[in-house]
Amino acid sequence: MQIRDKRLILTGSAGGIGSALATALAKRGARLVLIDRNGEAVTAVAQGLAQAHAVAADLSTADGCKQAVDAALAHMGGVDLLINLAGLNSFRNFEAETPEAIERLMHVNLLAPMLLTRAVLPGMIAQKSGRIVNVGSVFGSIGFAWFTAYSASKFGLRGFSEALRRELADTGVRVTYVAPRAVKTPMNDDAVMRMGAATGMNMDPPERVVARIIDAIDDDHKDTYIGFPESLFVRINVILPRLVDIALAKQNRIAAKFARRE
Ligand SMILES: NC(=O)c1ccc[n+]([C@@H]2O[C@H](COP(=O)([O-])OP(=O)(O)OC[C@H]3O[C@@H](n4cnc5c(N)ncnc54)[C@H](OP(=O)(O)O)[C@@H]3O)[C@@H](O)[C@H]2O)c1
Repeated sequence: MQIRDKRLILTGSAGGIGSALATALAKRGARLVLIDRNGEAVTAVAQGLAQAHAVAADLSTADGCKQAVDAALAHMGGVDLLINLAGLNSFRNFEAETPEAIERLMHVNLLAPMLLTRAVLPGMIAQKSGRIVNVGSVFGSIGFAWFTAYSASKFGLRGFSEALRRELADTGVRVTYVAPRAVKTPMNDDAVMRMGAATGMNMDPPERVVARIIDAIDDDHKDTYIGFPESLFVRINVILPRLVDIALAKQNRIAAKFARRE
């Protein structure tokens, strides 16, 4: 899909990947509605960019999702490209998760992409073109200990993307799923960074992820898995999950020392 002059919604635009992606998309000539929870932060990102409009919205509720998409439609009149990037992480023992935190994480990571997609789809189907880009994670294909709620949300997002892509096959609307490995952004707090250093976890700069997302849009990719050997482990986990259990066992024991217990 050509990016120039496309009407684009980007959620999570004030984040580590989002702010770099907003800048790259603006350079490519997209018309942008940038959505994030923190109004000041998303306005600051939009300020330096051509054709960018900031919207503050909380995607952890259905009302917040509606407010975000209504504002985008009012501003642009329609949407050609929706990038569901906003996300929350949680690195802790699953029994230490509160019901409220699980609900919030599932809403931001899975329900918000579904609700925003549902809202923009009729317009895309009517114009027989459009693209939904869902940013998942390698943890959406390999369930990671101590990231259990996060992994569950990203498995859901991957399943949503696959089913929707098949459902829309004859409509001209495309669905892309992008799965980064760990990325150096504020999403990974001190505990994750220390665990990453102790386990030798590979971490990409946000710019690498941005380039791959843009390539996926340009070249109409269905799925993009970022990083080797993580992309190989994704395939092995499908065929030989017991092998991955064994390969991860030592890493899990090290990671347990850093995971939150409350
Ligand atoms: N970083 C990684 O290691 C990594 C790896 C694989 C995949 N990913 C995925 O990449 C995406 C972007 O992550 P990132 O690394 O750029 O993280 P980030 O820097 O934390 O950015 C995420 C953005 O989403 C926003 N957000 C969170 N909750 C929200 C809500 N309720 N309503 C609206 N916006 C909300 C955050 O706002 P606040 O700052 O106000 O919370 C933040 O601006 C996520 O979907 C993540 O799962 C990241």
